[in-house]
This record gives sequence, structure tokens and C-alpha cells, in this order.
Amino acid sequence: MLNKIKEAAQSILARIDFEPEIGIILGTGLNSVAEMMTDPINIPYEDIPHMSVSTAPSHQGRFVIGNLNGKNVLIMQGRLHYYEGYSMQQITFPIRVMRALGINTLIVTNAAGSLNENLQPGDIVLINDHINFMGTNPLIGINYEELGERFPSMNEPYSHRLMNLATNIAQEHNFIVKTGVYTGLTGPSLETLAECKMFAALGSDLVGMSTVPEVIVAVHGGMEVLGISVVTNLSNIFHSEPHSQEEIRVNAEKARLNLEKIILNIIEKI
Ligand code: HPA
Repeated sequence: MLNKIKEAAQSILARIDFEPEIGIILGTGLNSVAEMMTDPINIPYEDIPHMSVSTAPSHQGRFVIGNLNGKNVLIMQGRLHYYEGYSMQQITFPIRVMRALGINTLIVTNAAGSLNENLQPGDIVLINDHINFMGTNPLIGINYEELGERFPSMNEPYSHRLMNLATNIAQEHNFIVKTGVYTGLTGPSLETLAECKMFAALGSDLVGMSTVPEVIVAVHGGMEVLGISVVTNLSNIFHSEPHSQEEIRVNAEKARLNLEKIILNIIEKI
């Protein structure tokens, strides 16, 4: 595992002449931030040793590395999901590689369903905590002390400092961001009505099929994390129609400009 991480990091370093400081994962329908980079270097996942290739719809599957608003950033355009059949270690491998490249801040975005009537489609929600409902954990197995400790604290997985910065940026630009607890599920089947009621009763505001494993690994590696969900649909509790990929795309698009503002401005301040 340690050698695989090193080899992947070296193959990226061989193509760039600077060190990225910030990692950004772009979720479903949230690709546009990558288009704002100056002189980006695109590296498809299949060109990186030991990386898995994303198969999810509308996920491009490449690293985009370059300068964004004065900072060197590495963007994952398209992430890997557990439901694609990869192991927890495979889907979180890119986070290990980011850490090996010297990245210590991770901005992770996702499309999520809302369980809370205050969180409506098109809303931007700062994730303030998560519930791991995936039934597994990416840290199961041998613990390499070089990567992090055996029992990492999950006391503050989502940085309050970064959440405050994001909230202030939204205020300065006259829009609001909300906060909520994100529950990570394996999918790919969507939640039943009974499951939605259960997650809401357990204290969850949002549901989705990503983020939690990535954040656990980022925290294990000592990274500071900002998690942002874009509400793309209401969950079954409020909505009896099945939601479509089109609905998800349209609502992600509604949040696009404000999400871009948060990301562009926060990387300047990190
Ligand atoms: N459920 C699970 N994952 C999702 C949803 C949802 O409603 N919306 C976007 N990702």
C-alpha cells in the first residue's frame, strides 16, 4: 500500500513542476470549478499507477492540476464510489495520494438528497458532521503509522475554521449557506421511505453515496476538511416521485455559481 501510494504520487509529480497545496473533489454535476483553472494539467486516472477508473455517470475521471485563484490545487474531476464495486481502500486511494503530494487541505463536494425540509434543492449545505452508514470503514485492515494513527479521533472531522470562512464568504456575496449532518450510504439503490424516516430520526439531514470514506481517510492522514453538499433532490419523505439524473443535474446547476464563489474565495484564504 505504501509503495503504491508513492508510485502514484511520483507519477503525478513527474508531470508538474510545483506542489499542490489544496485538494478538491468535485461531485455529480459540480464539474465547473475545474474549468476555471489557468493552464491546467489533466491526468486521467487510468494514467496513474494503482488508481481505479471511475465508472459513474457524469464523472469524468481525471485529476486536473494547476493554479486556481493564486493557489496550486489538485482537483478530482469525478470520484470513485463504493457502489461501483471498488474496495474502500480503492475509493480512498486518491486521498492518500493527495496527502503524499503534500496536500493538507481537502475540499469535498457532493450531490445529496435532503431529509430536512429546511434544506431545499439548489441549496448549498456545509457538512458539519457525518454518520457512516456504509457498514464498513476504509481504515479496516493493517494500520500504517506513517499514514495516521490506528484510532483517529472523529471529534471534528469537518473543520469549524473552514466552515466559518465559507459562511463569511457567502455573507459577503449575499447568499446563504446552511449546515447539516450527512449520512453516507453504499447505494446504488436509493433509500426507501422507511429508511429516510429512520435516517431523519437518527439526526441526519442529508443522504448520499460518497464523501464519508474520503473524509475518514483525510482525517486519518491529518488533513483539514471542508465538506459541501449541494441538495439535488428531496428524499422520499417529501417526494413520492422517483428522482432522475436530470433532476440532480438541474439542481446542481442552480447552486453552481455560489459554489464556485465559495471555492474560489476560500482557497485564497486557506
Ligand atoms: N439519495 C442518495 N444519494 C443521493 C441522493 C439521494 O436522494 N441525491 C443525490 N445523491
